[in-house]
Amino acid sequence: MASMRIPFPDKICYGGDYNPEQWPEEVWRDDMRLMKKAGVNFVSVGIFSWALLQPDKERYDFAWLDRLMDLLADNGIYADLATATASPPAWMARDYPETLPVDENGARYTNGSRQHYCPNSPVYREYGQKLVRRLVNRYKSHPALAMWHINNEYGCHISRCYCKQCEAAFRVWLKDKYGSIETLNDRWGTNFWSQTYYDWSEIHLPGKTPTYANPGQLLDYQRFMSDSLLECYLGEYRVIKEGTPDLPVMTNFMPHFKPLDYFKWAKHMDIVTWDSYPEPTAGIPVGAAMDHDLMRSLRGGQPFMLMEQVTSQVNWRQHNPLKRPGVMRLWSYQALARGGDGIMFFQWRASRAGAEKFHGAMVTHTGDEHSRVYKEVEQLGNELKMLDEIVGSRISAKAAIVFDYDNWWALELPSKPSADVKYIEQIRHYYDHLFRKNIAVDFVQPADDLSRYDLVIAPALYMVAEGVADNLERFVGNGGTLLTTFFSGIVDEHDRIHLGGYPAPLRKLLGICVEEFDPMLPGQTNRVAVTEATLYGEYSCNLWADLIRLEGAQSIAAFTDDFFAGMPAATVNAFGKGKAYYVGTQAEPAFISRLLDRLLSDSNVEAPLAAPEGVEVTCREHEDRRYWFILNHLPETVTIPLPPGQFDDMLGRTTVSDNIVLQKNELSILRSLNV
Ligand code: GAL
Repeated sequence: MASMRIPFPDKICYGGDYNPEQWPEEVWRDDMRLMKKAGVNFVSVGIFSWALLQPDKERYDFAWLDRLMDLLADNGIYADLATATASPPAWMARDYPETLPVDENGARYTNGSRQHYCPNSPVYREYGQKLVRRLVNRYKSHPALAMWHINNEYGCHISRCYCKQCEAAFRVWLKDKYGSIETLNDRWGTNFWSQTYYDWSEIHLPGKTPTYANPGQLLDYQRFMSDSLLECYLGEYRVIKEGTPDLPVMTNFMPHFKPLDYFKWAKHMDIVTWDSYPEPTAGIPVGAAMDHDLMRSLRGGQPFMLMEQVTSQVNWRQHNPLKRPGVMRLWSYQALARGGDGIMFFQWRASRAGAEKFHGAMVTHTGDEHSRVYKEVEQLGNELKMLDEIVGSRISAKAAIVFDYDNWWALELPSKPSADVKYIEQIRHYYDHLFRKNIAVDFVQPADDLSRYDLVIAPALYMVAEGVADNLERFVGNGGTLLTTFFSGIVDEHDRIHLGGYPAPLRKLLGICVEEFDPMLPGQTNRVAVTEATLYGEYSCNLWADLIRLEGAQSIAAFTDDFFAGMPAATVNAFGKGKAYYVGTQAEPAFISRLLDRLLSDSNVEAPLAAPEGVEVTCREHEDRRYWFILNHLPETVTIPLPPGQFDDMLGRTTVSDNIVLQKNELSILRSLNV
C-alpha cells in the first residue's frame, strides 16, 4: 500500500468545513483574519455546493469559487476541495426523478434535504463526473489546492436503495460473482422455502418480504450496496487522478459505520479521514478512541485525519449539551495521540439559516474572536504549530483485534439464536479493557498477516471464510496468543453453516467442540467459577452459554448453574508454540479484565507507562524519537510517574521531572530520543 502523507507533509492540518457561499463576501475577508489568528491552515470547501456551481443542466458558475480559492491562496490557507456531489441540485430531481433513491417500501425520496441520489443512477454518476472533470481542469494548478474531498460521508443517510436501477445492477453484480444461476442457488441455499431461481430476472432486491429474506441474498445485497457506493466514489476518483495524479484523494468516513466495508474502501484512498461526534457528556470517549484506532488501521497504520468534529454542541441529538471548557482540546489531542495528523471541525462559521444553524462552529453566531469557543479554537490552533514534527509518526501495537465488515453484516442478519449479539458491543467488551490499560491496539482483518502481533483477539468471529482458520493456526502455531469468543466459527462467507460441530474450522486450534448453545433471556444470568490462582473467583455472565466439550483444551472456568453446571465456560488450548483461548459466554468485565491481564502479561504486551485508569497514554514514533501523549480524562488532578529517561515537554506547560502533574482535561506531550 503506497504511503501518502497528509496534504502537506510537514504540518498538522487544522481547520474545518468552510461554506462561505452562505455569506456576503465582506464576511469572507473577516473569515481570513479570524482563520489566521486561530492558526487555521486548511479548509474543506464546496462540499454541498453543486447547486451553486451548476445552476442548470448546461450552465456552470465557478466565479465565486475562483474568488474563494484565490482568497485562500492569498492568505496561505490550503483547500481540501470537494467534488460537491453529496447533494444534487433541484433540477436533477425535477428532470430525472429516477436519480432519487427508493426505500424498501417502494417510496421515492424527494429532494430538499441532502444525499438524495441513487448510487446506481447512471444520470447522477454522469453529471457528477462531468462536474468533477470541470473542477479538476479548472483548479488543478491552483496554488490553494492541496487535497480532493470526494462527496461526503457516503451512505450516511441513504446507504440502501431499492429502485429498478439498483435491481438491474444487483443482477449484474451477482452474475459477475457467481457466473451461473446454479452456483448462486447453491451458495444461497435456495432449495429451502422454494426460492430456487431459474433465471436472473427472477431475483429481486431483498426489500419488503413477508418474513426473513434469504440470508445469503441479504448479505450479498449489503456487499453490493457498499460496492455500488464505492463505484460512485471510484468514478470521481478516476477523473481526479487523470488530472492531478499526485494530489491526495479521499472521502470522509464515519464512526463504527456498518453499511460500508471501510477496509475495502480505504484501498482506494490516499489518506483515511473521519468524522467524530461522541456524546459530549458521556465521560471518557472510549468509542472515539476505538474509531481512531480503526481508522489508523484501515491503511496499515498510516496517519489519518480527523476531518470533522464539533467545537461545542451538535444539533442532531434530542438534547445537545455543550462540550465543557477544555474538552474539545483534550479530545482533539486524543485524535493526535492515536495517530491523527489533522484536526478539523464542522464547520468554520455557524450558519444563519438552514438545518444546521444550531450546530456549533469555530466562529459562533457572535461572529467574532471574543467567544469562549473561538478562544479555545485559537489556543489549540496555535499550540498545534509547535507539534508539526509529529506528522507522519506511527504507533506500534503488539495487540490486535480482528474486525471484519462481512462478519459484522452476517452476525447481525435476522433469525439468529439471539438478537442481542451485536458485533461492536462484543468488541467493546475486550477493547475497553485494553483502552483502560493503555495498550496500543490495531484492528486487523481475519486473513491479514498477524506475525507482527503477540496477542490477537477475535470477538464473535461468526464468519470464518476460506483461509482464515489456517491464518489463525499459523499465528498461534508460531507462538501467538489468540482469544476468541462465543458464536465463532459458525458460517462460511455465504452464511452457510460449517458442518461437523461448532466452531468447526477452529475446532482443532481451540481444542473444543461446542455441541449446543443456550442464549439467555434479557435479565437472565449464570455464573462462571474459576478455581485457579490468577483468575480465582466467581463471576456473573449473561447473554449466551456455549455447551463445550473439551477436545484437548483445558477448562479455565466452569458454569455454576443450570443443567450444564460444571461444564467449561472458558478454555485454553496449547497449539504449536502458542495458545488459543475461548470464552463461551458474555462474562462480567471483572472476568474479562483479569483474563486479559493474564494474556497481556503472558505475551509481554505492556502499556507505554503506568497510569491510573482514566489517564490515556499513547506513544507515536519516528525512527529516532518518540512522542508520549498523556491525557487526563479524570475529574481530578493526577500525578503520573515517568519512566527513567530525558523528556522534553512539547507544549511547555508542565515541568518534567520524575513526575508529571495534570489537572482535569489537561494533557502533556513529551518527546524522548530513541536510544
Ligand atoms: C456530518 C456531516 C456534516 C455535518 C455534520 C454535523 O455527518 O458530514 O456535513 O452535517 O455531520 O454534525
